[in-house]
Amino acid sequence: MLQTRVTRLLGIEYPILQGALSGLGTWKFAAEVSKAGALGCFTAAVARTPEGLRRQLRMLKSELKGKPFSLNISLYMCPYQDDMFKVAIDEGVPVIETSVYAVPDDWVDSMKDNDIIWLHKVTTLRHALHAEKQGADAIILIGLEGFGFKNPRQLPTMAAVPWVARHLKKPLIAGGGVGDPHTFLAVLVLGAEAAYIGSAFLTTKEAPLPTHVKEGLLNMKPDNQELIYRILSPPSQKDFIEVMELRGKVPMERWVAMMERVLLKDPDWREAPLVWEEDISGEKVYKYVSFAASYPHKIMSVKEFIHWLVDEGRKILENIIR
Ligand SMILES: Cc1cc2nc3c(=O)[nH]c(=O)nc-3n(C[C@H](O)[C@H](O)[C@H](O)COP(=O)(O)O)c2cc1C
Repeated sequence: MLQTRVTRLLGIEYPILQGALSGLGTWKFAAEVSKAGALGCFTAAVARTPEGLRRQLRMLKSELKGKPFSLNISLYMCPYQDDMFKVAIDEGVPVIETSVYAVPDDWVDSMKDNDIIWLHKVTTLRHALHAEKQGADAIILIGLEGFGFKNPRQLPTMAAVPWVARHLKKPLIAGGGVGDPHTFLAVLVLGAEAAYIGSAFLTTKEAPLPTHVKEGLLNMKPDNQELIYRILSPPSQKDFIEVMELRGKVPMERWVAMMERVLLKDPDWREAPLVWEEDISGEKVYKYVSFAASYPHKIMSVKEFIHWLVDEGRKILENIIR
């Protein structure tokens, strides 16, 4: 039931991908996810430098003994972007996931020449079609409910997934508010061939956060007004116009950091630190998650969490079609 074009493309057991997590997407956490049969994601920015990335990639590869994993390079949110790409290619990373702003057009040929599977994460149909045209092997689509870089034209997951899936020939991976068996199954039924999960993975035993913070995430109420405002509201028109006017006038990594804050409705967006310098450890993480962080009913190991999604998802489906 759960084999799809995505599981075959990536060589994974379950159609589940761990989301990129700035500050928290360590190689160790990615290793646990991949060992459990999903696709673990090591976020390159966490390694900080190309040398650090090389060292940590070697540890990850040695831990996984050939099992697949992905390396996320968030464009203009990852320091030493070009050198990080070079190290990734040099070290034979099996899957590169790019995200955030634009498409890494300059790196597409190198990834293809080196047989690296390339996934690109987007929030709109227009960007999905562009990435497909550029040769992405699969597209990751995040609906409005997800945490991360937003787009004023982003639709809720339920509207976005079937619409984008209808337009693509390449397989679609989807997320944004996925964190339990129902939402996992939902994105598959809506037309995705794998689910992409960020916030909910942070509640697992292996996530690099203190236990009381994981409990805090699980106890979060999805109808918390501040959370609704941050995740679902459109940005202020005034701030949006102002930040758009700054494009090209400040370094791109500064601009992306400011834009992200505008999209998250932060009134202090002009002082936004560079994304890789932002501290989202400990309780600070409460501001950096979606509703889905509260969906798991308890702290589980990565393996238990994945099995909960898959086994319960299967039961839900059997009950529906019985
Ligand atoms: C703490 C945190 C940090 C994130 N950092 C990044 C990042 O550096 N790059 C990126 O492309 N996405 C990042 N994301 C977005 C996730 O990869 C994913 O798209 C999102 O979490 C999906 O929605 P969900 O949170 O509802 O699962 C981050 C998400 C969280 C929760």
